[in-house]
Amino acid sequence: MKSMAVNAINKKLTMDEMVAQAWVFFLAGSETTSNTLGYGSYELALNPHIQDRLYKEIVSSVDSEGEISYDELAKLPLLDAVISETLRLYPSVVRLDRKAKADYRLADTGITIEKGKCVEIPVYAIHRSEEYYENAHQFDPDRFMPQNRHKLVAYTYLPFGAGPHNCIGMRFALMEVKLAFVHIIQRFRFVRTEQTSVPLEYRKAVPFLSATSVVVGIQKR
Ligand code: HEM
Repeated sequence: MKSMAVNAINKKLTMDEMVAQAWVFFLAGSETTSNTLGYGSYELALNPHIQDRLYKEIVSSVDSEGEISYDELAKLPLLDAVISETLRLYPSVVRLDRKAKADYRLADTGITIEKGKCVEIPVYAIHRSEEYYENAHQFDPDRFMPQNRHKLVAYTYLPFGAGPHNCIGMRFALMEVKLAFVHIIQRFRFVRTEQTSVPLEYRKAVPFLSATSVVVGIQKR
């Protein structure tokens, strides 16, 4: 609180603040992205028919060297849907929190959030609620295909949060995960093995989703 009170123009970063920022960047930027790749590989191994569809979409979009342009990458609907569905089932940040800066009345619900009160938003529970997603625990990327996106209810899909404090790395993260899948899937196939746990088990490490073990086999195509 003391450091926030200083005039921003005169503010200099201390060594502790620099270390804290670097640490948050690794945790917020690296752990989340690698988790998404891990859970995505896991679901593709369990759903080979979806992996086959994705493979076809990828090989029909890359050039003869197996490379892809930024514009082309953004245009692959199934790749986008597979990653969105992975982030629905496995949101790295399982709950969001906010602290009210002022009293806030929630329309005609009769509920007022008082100034200073903390509000927890249970992202994981919302993402897996039958109220918003049919067969909520099932991996079904088609929910996020362009023809179905209009069925999504606002604020029920929050893998990157929402509002002024949402994730600043979202576009970069999505591009990174897409590019990694394009390069891996055109050369390898993810497969279920005897060591693949179904269902996954989690550590009690809220607010981050952390499975005890995500093992998938990899076969060369
Ligand atoms: C799949 C990858 C990622 C996921 C799922 C993710 C998720 C999130 C979520 C849920 C929040 C909190 C948003 C809120 O409270 O409304 C957040 C904040 C943040 N993320 Fe990400 N993130 C990812 C990748 C990245 C990357 C690559 C970076 C940086 C290079 C990054 C940097 C940040 C930062 C700095 C914040 C804090 C923003 C603020 O408080 O104003 N994230 N992220």
